[in-house]
Amino acid sequence: MRHWGIAVAIGLAAMAGAAFAQGDVIAERRAGLKRMGGHMEAMKPVADSRGDPKPLEARIDDMIAFYRTLPARFPAGSGTGDTKALPAIWQDFPRFEQANTALLGQLATLKTAAASGNAAGFAEAYAQTGPQFCGGCHRPFRAR
Ligand code: HEC
Repeated sequence: MRHWGIAVAIGLAAMAGAAFAQGDVIAERRAGLKRMGGHMEAMKPVADSRGDPKPLEARIDDMIAFYRTLPARFPAGSGTGDTKALPAIWQDFPRFEQANTALLGQLATLKTAAASGNAAGFAEAYAQTGPQFCGGCHRPFRAR
């Protein structure tokens, strides 16, 4: 009897551990995405005023580093809990990855403009980024 009790206790602990790990993945990706939103907000006044985009390069680098890890932050099973991730992600994961790759391409364009201090090019690329590339993934894959 005692052995059963211990086995059950270990089993429950393992299940709780798995649930905790899943919750962690969700909390961590949401925190990262929030940080990405902060980067976009910080860039807006520079784009709007056609200011010098050069100081924004570090933010774009942080975005590129984060979005390179984005697909791995959506393991199977992480669509339930405190998340707005839609089941469509796991029904068509290649399309989800494609939307992310498209954003990475746009971020490269943004980085080139920032690095060369091309204010007009930066403003133009910035204006496309939110609606086309962030929105291009949010519309099919994120609940409102
Ligand atoms: C490849 C898909 C994809 C791309 C590209 C993408 N997102 Fe998201 N984003 C998501 C998903 C899915 C969620 C919901 C995550 C969750 O709730 O677990 C989300 C959530 C968010 C959130 C809410 C975070 C929170 O829970 O507080 C912000 C802010 C955000 N994204 C910003 C951005 C910005 C800014 C861009 C573009 C620079 C972007 N995202 C590009 C898929 C994407």
